[in-house]
Amino acid sequence: VLNYASVHPPVHLLRYTVVQDISAVVRALEQGVKKADVDPAVKAVVICGTNGTFSAGADIRGFSSIQAGDRPSLASVIDLIERSEKPVVAAIEGMALGGALEVALGCHYRVAHAQAWVGLPEVTLGLLPGAGGTQRLPRLIGVPAALDLITTGKHVLAAEALKLGIIDEIMEENTIDAAIHLANKVSGQPLNSRRLSLKQVQSLPNMDAILSEALVKVKKQARGCLSPEMCVQAVKASVQLPFTEGIRKERELFNLLLSSGQAKALQYVFFAQRAAQKWTTSSGASWKTASAQPIRKVAVIGLGTMGRGIVTSLVKAKMSVVALEQDQKQLEVGARAVTSLLEREASKMPWIGQRPDACDPALLQFTLDFSVLQDADLVIEAVFEDMALKKEIFHKLSAICKPGSFLCTNTSALDIDEIASATSRPHQVIGTHFFSPAHVMKLVEIIHGRHTSPITIATAMGLAKTIGKIGVVVGNCFGFVGNRMMAPYAEQAVFLLEEGCKPKEVDQALEGFGFNLGPFRMLDLAGLDVGWRSRKGQGLTGPKLAPGTPARLRGRRRYSPLPDLLCENGRYGQKTGRGWYQYEKPGARIANPDPWLHNFLIRYRDAHHIKARFIDEEEILERCLYTLINEGFQILDDGIASDPEDIDVIYIYGYGWPKHRGGPMFYASTIGLPRILAKLQKYSEAHPDIPRMQPSAFLKKLVFLGNPPLKEWMSHAGHQSSKL
Ligand code: NAI
Repeated sequence: VLNYASVHPPVHLLRYTVVQDISAVVRALEQGVKKADVDPAVKAVVICGTNGTFSAGADIRGFSSIQAGDRPSLASVIDLIERSEKPVVAAIEGMALGGALEVALGCHYRVAHAQAWVGLPEVTLGLLPGAGGTQRLPRLIGVPAALDLITTGKHVLAAEALKLGIIDEIMEENTIDAAIHLANKVSGQPLNSRRLSLKQVQSLPNMDAILSEALVKVKKQARGCLSPEMCVQAVKASVQLPFTEGIRKERELFNLLLSSGQAKALQYVFFAQRAAQKWTTSSGASWKTASAQPIRKVAVIGLGTMGRGIVTSLVKAKMSVVALEQDQKQLEVGARAVTSLLEREASKMPWIGQRPDACDPALLQFTLDFSVLQDADLVIEAVFEDMALKKEIFHKLSAICKPGSFLCTNTSALDIDEIASATSRPHQVIGTHFFSPAHVMKLVEIIHGRHTSPITIATAMGLAKTIGKIGVVVGNCFGFVGNRMMAPYAEQAVFLLEEGCKPKEVDQALEGFGFNLGPFRMLDLAGLDVGWRSRKGQGLTGPKLAPGTPARLRGRRRYSPLPDLLCENGRYGQKTGRGWYQYEKPGARIANPDPWLHNFLIRYRDAHHIKARFIDEEEILERCLYTLINEGFQILDDGIASDPEDIDVIYIYGYGWPKHRGGPMFYASTIGLPRILAKLQKYSEAHPDIPRMQPSAFLKKLVFLGNPPLKEWMSHAGHQSSKL
């Protein structure tokens, strides 16, 4: 773990390797420092890591354990380092993240390699730097810069760290030699001015305002996540309290976060996201045996809302792209939209130059000519959600594209097998379901059909990774995973309006829970016409609806015509300036409650003899969230998602589910499955005409089996698959 090597007497080098057992590193560091302290031959100490990295910060297993039980002992070793009468120099190569940066802050000097990164990412895992980091960093670099680093968890490169004052010297090479040189140079010099615990935080005339503004900012962004707020409180303590009391406060806040459950949820998400890369399908294909084909040239068909964002993501990742539209007008509109999205990011993409519209045609080409798609390695179709149109396009692609090219559809719900049936290569057809706005949202659902080959899945996953997205492999069913679970959630939201709520009440409850947007604000943003078209396609409304169908029933299922009635009134959401809310003008974003809608709801209830009642927040949350979770259990049992982690990753990166609650399935496990089941039973008894409220057989089975931990759920699923 640690070599105590007097390679360059009188400087002793403490070279440590971070292993999974972090406490062993902490113990070894302690012994090393103590030994150096009492050894009269030692005049100075250099601490460095092995294999070119100061800390193995990338390994969260080590990271989280250092956060938890070992923090107090790490803190005392850092104190020991700082108290040492011999100068201690940190030689930072690779990364110094989290606890490792805190060790470096305990050293008297810090030398870093030019390519080294430093940062305190604890906040992103629901914690704060709990080994003195929140007290030492503000003393070193001042409160505003420390707040920025500690509350965001961002990493900075050595040059930036030098500017901020975190490190003293940057080296292009031989960092350890430079640290040894520095240690020799400063040996014998007084150290008090280098001990951060003895320094005062630099006072600023507007310190109170800085702290309170920081608090307001993080509270607004955090949507219920505690760690950024606790980070601000800890930094505040560094300003207001002497060092030792500040440390006590830091420990207290750290323990509060540890016991909040949010750290556990955020760490779960971290691992779930990694696990999603290790995909399997119910037929046994897996990431282990399938390798991705290289993709150099991608074609995108349709430059509407989705296509333009997809093109932007591809160009940003330096891929060669051909973008195709149906007519000149649409092509021009689409090209302008792509150009403007790219312009906003031009500074980050030197290869396309300052004028994306004039960039190398080998990189981005707009066309109406299908034959240009011939040599594309992969095609992504993003035309209207219309099965006949999609089949026509896939038929054409199958004839035109070279034999090896992969054909992807961005459909949000349609049957991948039916689309694939229009081609002569169904094994190369796959769903790549991006989320809006596609140049921003991280998620891509990768939907394999019955014939999709493992290589095609691996290639789609590889493409997602190349363009900085998170791919999650799922099976083929209407709505796949994300939209299938969204359907009962959105349905409940509308039923709640029928029963007495206003859109704002429902949205507020769910935004209070931590969603980016409540269901009605989300629907207004996405466009109400999208769902309307889909319902017309399914014959739930519109000309295909059988005459005489009762307004609020489809078969024996409860149905709400409210969303259809809004569309019939031309209310499509933000785009028309009216939807579940009203907007200042079409396209405006601020949602204001609309008295017209409230009166409309009153008239609607009267017409259907519904007596409005007061519905509390608990019922709103339970009905919307538990029905969504219930569908998740059904999806697991059907084998559409291979495990609960995949569902959670989809919800966090595609639907704005609050990360600190760990995704819907993790959240269900924290609530306890028996409670979810009992509530679903209660609501489904009250609403026997809502089949989606009836508890899934898989949920019932898990409760019967004694509420096993989430990790064990899949061993009890009807459709077993495992990532092992
Ligand atoms: P959109 O209506 O904004 O754009 C579709 C584009 O396809 C239009 O520009 C149209 O001119 C073009 N197009 C139509 N027929 C064509 C043809 N034969 N050849 C070339 N281009 C043609 O639609 P949007 O919203 O971009 O949706 C596209 C697909 O993505 C749909 O399948 C939709 O379900 C799916 N999707 C949409 C999301 C959204 O939030 N809008 C989210 C995720 C998926």
